[in-house]
Amino acid sequence: MMDVADLRREYSKGGLHRADLPVEPLALFEKWLGQACEAKLSDPTAMVVATVDASGQPWQRTVLLKHYDAAGMLFYTNMGSRKALQLAGNPCISLLFPWHMLDRQVHVTGRVEKLSTLEVMRYFHSRPKDSQIAAWVSQQSSRISARGVLESKFMELKQKFANGEVPLPSFWGGYRVVIDSVEFWQGGEHRLHDRFLYQRAGERWQIDRLAP
Ligand SMILES: Cc1cc2nc3c(=O)[nH]c(=O)nc-3n(C[C@H](O)[C@H](O)[C@H](O)COP(=O)(O)O)c2cc1C
Repeated sequence: MMDVADLRREYSKGGLHRADLPVEPLALFEKWLGQACEAKLSDPTAMVVATVDASGQPWQRTVLLKHYDAAGMLFYTNMGSRKALQLAGNPCISLLFPWHMLDRQVHVTGRVEKLSTLEVMRYFHSRPKDSQIAAWVSQQSSRISARGVLESKFMELKQKFANGEVPLPSFWGGYRVVIDSVEFWQGGEHRLHDRFLYQRAGERWQIDRLAP
């Protein structure tokens, strides 16, 4: 076994101060996301999405954020997938943006709403054609015997849809995460990190500093 106990580092990229916090969490999220893009992080919009199954077991996977605004954060997926089945039973969700290179993480909690077919269709047709075909190929989260099954189905559908538009699969969709809370974490020296939690309080956001 690799000895991982001594793998650690100092966090010294600077702090997060209450005086610098905007009233709206999305304003700070946008600033940090911009800095993650400028820093050329790979997949700056990748977020770890946690859902809970019927037995109370949490599950996580990475998904790409595709839009955000005051109404929420959007992502797209297969509506027959494990995550979608779990969200149908329990709409509570947690998102985590692990921006380690910047000594930062952002943690979001909320509830999902299914996107309308129109919203899904608009995004689906903006994707590269091969990605649209791949959506048809994969019954996400189902068991398959071999990779070849996917490859031959992909080639078959590539021919089928060679001319014209790829239709939106009925089993493909997306979610809006309606945000309840956003927590910003900035690593600090001597493990004295800065954490600020925004929580909805009616029309405004309550902001609290949390111990690291
Ligand atoms: C960087 C990255 C981005 C991903 N983006 C998505 C995505 O936007 N939508 C999606 O359904 N799966 C995406 N995946 C795959 C998921 O992590 C996951 O394997 C898949 O959604 C099935 O999850 P489930 O079985 O828990 O439903 C991505 C994986 C990685 C590593």
